[in-house]
Amino acid sequence: MQCALVSRGFDLRDYYGKAFDKVADRIQMQSHPADDPAEVRMAVAWHPPADAFDRYPNLQAVCTIGAGADNVLACPSLRPGIDVVRVVDPAQAEMMSGFITWHVIWHQRRFASYLAQQRRSEWRRLPQRAARSVPVALLGYGQIGSRVAADLTQLGFPVLAWSRTPKSMPPGMRGFHGGDGLFAMLREAEVLVNLLPLTPETRGILNRDVFAALQPGGYLIQVGRGEHLAEADLLAALDSGQLAGASLDVFAREPLAGDHVFWQHPKIVLTPHDACDVSNDALVGTLLSTAEAIETGRRPPGAVDRVRGY
Ligand SMILES: NC(=O)c1ccc[n+]([C@@H]2O[C@H](COP(=O)([O-])OP(=O)(O)OC[C@H]3O[C@@H](n4cnc5c(N)ncnc54)[C@H](OP(=O)(O)O)[C@@H]3O)[C@@H](O)[C@H]2O)c1
Repeated sequence: MQCALVSRGFDLRDYYGKAFDKVADRIQMQSHPADDPAEVRMAVAWHPPADAFDRYPNLQAVCTIGAGADNVLACPSLRPGIDVVRVVDPAQAEMMSGFITWHVIWHQRRFASYLAQQRRSEWRRLPQRAARSVPVALLGYGQIGSRVAADLTQLGFPVLAWSRTPKSMPPGMRGFHGGDGLFAMLREAEVLVNLLPLTPETRGILNRDVFAALQPGGYLIQVGRGEHLAEADLLAALDSGQLAGASLDVFAREPLAGDHVFWQHPKIVLTPHDACDVSNDALVGTLLSTAEAIETGRRPPGAVDRVRGY
């Protein structure tokens, strides 16, 4: 089967060449624009150019590189009926959980203050706080959120989680849903972790109302999508002390401009959209199952609900 590699700004082979080699006997990868577009029935894409899919009249499925499908769903040339398939990867959820746990503990154990003290050669112990006194709220309780919730619970943090639909939660966690549920959860939380997909409902959700509802001196860990965040509202919440700090991994414009105020902000820890990649093994599995589904006339496993947006 012919598969087009469609991305803007970088070559997918540089990151996932090994996975593409592993499936080469079943799926032939073609750089976009492919030489024989009528033969292309699937694509792998990351931030595809607006007209990318117009070229492929027989395209049936697009695999996104990553857990979020928003960048492909937003592409104007994605015709109705083309399935968008995301990689669901337990190894990625594990990586994300380690990343988030580090940032939760960075806040709980006051490491930003210790780093500042070290820079002043200042020996001063700060009051310690047990994990059980730092409630963590998760926006999103999907494949990644549920793993993060389980790991933080193991470490003793009280975990609250918000989803679109109600969930039955394991012992030690509490679930919330809907608009009222969101604010009921936030009022009890000190750390807020964003693990939502980007949809029309979630765009801009990290805003002044949400920050104001958290316990004073709260902390934001933003690993969803940059467009979830109202940047000016975050800066105001940091300036007022309502938020003690924020860890940011994703940004509305990536790469982040060199003169952006976030780079030098003393209360912000920043990483370049690097919380967790999908593993080659999971990508190989997704490519093969998508090709097989196309060949047998089935809907590919992992296809997102295009109306719901995730
Ligand atoms: N920074 C990075 O490197 C990185 C890496 C991977 C993923 N991500 C981000 O993490 C996101 C989540 O990934 P995932 O695999 O866990 O996604 P997922 O399995 O699809 O889970 C999404 C969760 O969000 C909830 N949700 C969606 N819309 C909602 C709404 N309007 N109100 C309340 N809850 C809502 C869903 O609720 P239901 O359970 O009720 O459906 C579900 O619990 C991705 O979309 C991406 O934005 C970032």
